[in-house]
Amino acid sequence: MASLLTFQITILNPDPFRAAFESYLERSIPEEPESLYDPVRTCIKSGGKRLRPILTALCAGVEERDLSWLGSAAAVELLHTFTLVHDDIMDNAATRRGIPTVHVQYGRDAAILSGDVIVALAVKALAESGSQAIQQKLEEFAKGFQAVCDGQALDKEYEVRSSLSQKEYIAMIELKTSRMFELAAVLGALDGPIHDLEAIRLFARNIGLAFQIQDDILDLTGDEKFGKTIGGDVLEGKRTILFVLAMEKYNACGESDRILLDRLRDRKASEDNIRPIRALFERMGVLNEARTIAERYTDDAEAHLLNVRSGAQRDNLRAFGQWLLGRAI
Ligand code: IPE
Ligand code: IPE
Ligand code: MG
Ligand code: MG
Ligand code: MG
Repeated sequence: MASLLTFQITILNPDPFRAAFESYLERSIPEEPESLYDPVRTCIKSGGKRLRPILTALCAGVEERDLSWLGSAAAVELLHTFTLVHDDIMDNAATRRGIPTVHVQYGRDAAILSGDVIVALAVKALAESGSQAIQQKLEEFAKGFQAVCDGQALDKEYEVRSSLSQKEYIAMIELKTSRMFELAAVLGALDGPIHDLEAIRLFARNIGLAFQIQDDILDLTGDEKFGKTIGGDVLEGKRTILFVLAMEKYNACGESDRILLDRLRDRKASEDNIRPIRALFERMGVLNEARTIAERYTDDAEAHLLNVRSGAQRDNLRAFGQWLLGRAI
C-alpha cells in the first residue's frame, strides 16, 4: 500500500514544495493580538495529515515545480482547521493531533474567535490564489463552507435521535466531511490545465464518505497515533456508522448486549463501556460491515476516475483513495 509519505514525497516533499506550503500557511497568520493568533498558530502548526492540500495538488495535476495550487490548498486547509476547532468544542473533545484541543488549552472564548478568524484567513488565501476562475472558486468555497455547517447541524441534531438510517447518516457525512474533500479537489482542478471537474468532484465526494466512515471506525479501534481520544464518539453518544449498523441488529441481540446498546443510544456510556462496546461491535460484525461500506465508496470513487484524462493523475488519485482506506492516523 502506498504510504502517506509517498504522496508527500511526490506532491509536497521534498523541500521546497512541502516547505513552501507550510511557510505559506505560517505567513498567513498575523502576530497580534496574541490572544487571538497564538491559538491559531498552535493548531495550524500542530501537524495534521494535510490530506486536503494534497488532494488539491493532485487534482491540479500540474508539473511538480508549478505551485499555482498553493493558495487554494491553503484556503481549504484553513477552512478545515476552522471546522476542527469548532467541532472540538461541539464534541467536547479534549485531544486532537496528540495535544490538548484549542478550547482546552486556551479556553472556549478564544477557541470560538480563533476558529472564526481562521475562516477570514482562508478567504484571504483564496483571494490570493490567482484570478483564474476566481468567481467559480469563491462560489465553490462558499458552498463547501455552508455544507460543513449544515452537516455539523445535522450531526448535533442526530445525537439525540434514538435511531438513524444509513441514508440519513450518509447524507449527514456527505455534508460535514465529503464536501470539504470535494472543495479541495475542485479548487485544485480549477487551478490546473485540464479540469475534468465533474469526475474529480464525484471522486472526491465518494472518498470523503469512505474517509468519514474510516474516521468513525478509528475513533473506536485506533491507537495513540490517531491523536484523538479513543472512544470519544461512544462517550459523546455520536451517531456514527457503527451506531447505525449496531442499532439495525438490536432486535437480534441478547439481553446484556441490549443493555449496552441502550446505554450507547441514551448517551450514558462511560469509559468502562468502551472496551465492551468495541468487543460487541466486533462480535456483531459491525466493524467489518463498516469497513466494507468504506471500500464500496472507494470503489465508487475509483469508477469516476475513468473519466479523468491524465493517466498519472488517475494513478495518484487512486493511490490517495487507497491510502485513506488503509490509514490508522
Ligand atoms: C478530521 O480530519 C476531521 C474529519 C472530517 C474526520 P483529518 O483526519 O484530516 O484531520 P487532520 O487535519 O489530519 O488532523
Ligand atoms: C468531522 O466529524 C466533521 C468536521 C466538520 C470536523 P468528527 O467529529 O468525527 O471529526 P473528528 O473525529 O472530531 O476529527
Ligand atoms: Mg463532530
Ligand atoms: Mg469531533
Ligand atoms: Mg470522528
